[in-house]
Amino acid sequence: MQNILVTGAAGHVGSRLRKLLKGTYPRLVFSDIRTPADLSSNEEFLAADLADYAQVEKIVAGVDGIVHLGGYSIEGDWPTILNANIIGCYNLFEAAYRTRVKRVVLASSNHAVGFYPREKKIGVDVTVRPDSRYGVSKAFGEALGALYADKHGLRVTCLRIGNVGDAPVDQRRLSIWLKPEDLVQLIRIGLEHPDIRFEVFYGCSDNEAAWWDNSNARRFGYRPQGRAEDFRGQAMAAQAKLPSDPIGERYQGGSFCSEEYDANRES
Ligand SMILES: NC(=O)c1ccc[n+]([C@@H]2O[C@H](COP(=O)([O-])OP(=O)(O)OC[C@H]3O[C@@H](n4cnc5c(N)ncnc54)[C@H](O)[C@@H]3O)[C@@H](O)[C@H]2O)c1
Repeated sequence: MQNILVTGAAGHVGSRLRKLLKGTYPRLVFSDIRTPADLSSNEEFLAADLADYAQVEKIVAGVDGIVHLGGYSIEGDWPTILNANIIGCYNLFEAAYRTRVKRVVLASSNHAVGFYPREKKIGVDVTVRPDSRYGVSKAFGEALGALYADKHGLRVTCLRIGNVGDAPVDQRRLSIWLKPEDLVQLIRIGLEHPDIRFEVFYGCSDNEAAWWDNSNARRFGYRPQGRAEDFRGQAMAAQAKLPSDPIGERYQGGSFCSEEYDANRES
């Protein structure tokens, strides 16, 4: 892995990764639809709209691996999700295939499986249960990844990311928190491990309250360093100040499940 492209480089996670990945690969290329505000002169940046195939092919050409973070990262209306996440993700995989990229690490999301109840511990082999149009777009990305891996031999790793941050900030995050350095570990497994063909990992740290069985990631050597329990006191203090959300609190996807929820409506 010599040349690595990171999409979504101006975003919350991308901005952290630009610093954390420094020095790990000989050439890092960053892309986004907008220029990162804190871009430094020694960082290589190419602007592109993921929804435009020709632009995507230009940023992808000549790289060995891609960390695909770019897209709309919360619930949005259908045209927004369609362009940034569905068409954008298709363009990314198709351009990767055509330009002979070897590996893609895809930022999927816990929201692809958000409607599993919190008391159920799930592995990576469950049927997707998206909690939003956003979650559907992540399930679509995972399905595309499987197609390009199985049919065309691209090596693909999908990370069902929980929540990336310096610390878990509420009760839900005690289960799904992902320390940024642990995300780097998962990305490097996806980009470097010789046995990767198509894999799904949960993007969470060593959380005692986890809802996910992440043994598949451990099988590939993942040894998370973050421990959500170390922050329980402050997370629960913050939780106490939040309004109650009976639907959100029942499901793993939290407020993404309660947003627009009307499954109980009279027909
Ligand atoms: N932050 C988390 O904890 C978390 C959790 C689960 C999944 N994820 C996923 O990880 C990725 C990064 O998350 P984030 O929090 O940094 O999101 P973010 O919204 O901060 O960053 C996403 C970036 O994608 C760019 N983008 C949007 N539409 C684009 C387009 N059409 N063309 C090119 N670039 C476009 C945006 O400009 C933005 O900089 C996303 O795919 C998100 O869905 C993040």
